[in-house]
Parts: sequence; C-alpha cells; structure tokens
Amino acid sequence: MSTEIHITQGAAKAQKYESLLPQLVSLVQGETDFIANVSNIMAALKSTHSFLWIGCYFIQENELVLGPFQGPVACTRIAKGKGVCGTSWAKNETIVVPDVEQFPGHIACSSRSQSEIVVPIHNHKHQLIGVLDADSDLLNYFDETDRQNLELIASLIGKLGRVEA
Ligand code: SME
Repeated sequence: MSTEIHITQGAAKAQKYESLLPQLVSLVQGETDFIANVSNIMAALKSTHSFLWIGCYFIQENELVLGPFQGPVACTRIAKGKGVCGTSWAKNETIVVPDVEQFPGHIACSSRSQSEIVVPIHNHKHQLIGVLDADSDLLNYFDETDRQNLELIASLIGKLGRVEA
C-alpha cells in the first residue's frame, strides 16, 4: 500500500475530491484499526484541501468526544444539541454554516474559523456514531461539492468498523 496521497495542487475542489476518494479507499485497505484509518483520512483531507480544521467527534456516553483531527487544538466534548456538531447529531443531518457568527450557539474552538460544515457519521447498522467537522478561515467556503463528497467520506468512515453508538 502506498502511503502517499497524490493530488494536483491548484486543481478545482471537485477534481481534488474525485482524485482523493479512491486513494482514501486504498489508504485504509489492509488496516483494521479504526483510529489509525480515521487519522490517515483526516491527514489526507487536510493536505488536499485548504481547511483550517478537519476532524471527527464520536459519541461516547451521550456526548461527542474529540477523535482524530488535523488543525488547531479543539474542544474535547460537545453535548447533544450544542454547537453545530451537537445540532447535526440531534437533527441527524448535514449542516452547512456559511458564517459561524450567524449560527446561534456556535462553539468557537478557533477564533479563525469563519465557516463550517458538519456531517453525521453512521455505522453499517445506520446508527449515528459521530460527526465529521470541517472549518474554514474563509466565509462561505463550503458548498454542495463539499457536502456531497464529505458525506461520501463520512460513509466510508462509518463502514470502517466501529459499531457502538
Ligand atoms: N464549531 C464546532 C465545534 C467544533 S470545532 O469547530 C473543531 C461547533 O459549533 O460544534
């Protein structure tokens, strides 16, 4: 297995995702450890896209607890219904926030974050086990291309093996 991710820098966002997805699939092949695989997926995403922060939170004892991520230090626990992450969990839906200042209850882990997307992660039994969160230091960064592709990547993460919700 190659551990290198090859993406044409300067390519459009959609092309970067298109090129990244099959590489993520091969990146996790042959490794069964959940944290190892999710960690590499976060590193691959961060090195491909100009996100400020990308990472996962997983549900443990009815709280979201910080998982593998790339970027500035982040808050470690988020309650259901709190912030963008807790709202995505409570509603079981993807939330795109063009301007975090306009999202009531947004949790500012980094003062540089300006826009955000949070995607629920489901296991193979369709139970919600956590969320995938990306932040940008640009306003209005995340669009339909990010939503579709990050939902695909969340579904890949959900199939990696952790089954408990
Ligand atoms: N902004 C998130 C908190 C997590 S950090 O962005 C990494 C929220 O409002 O839930």
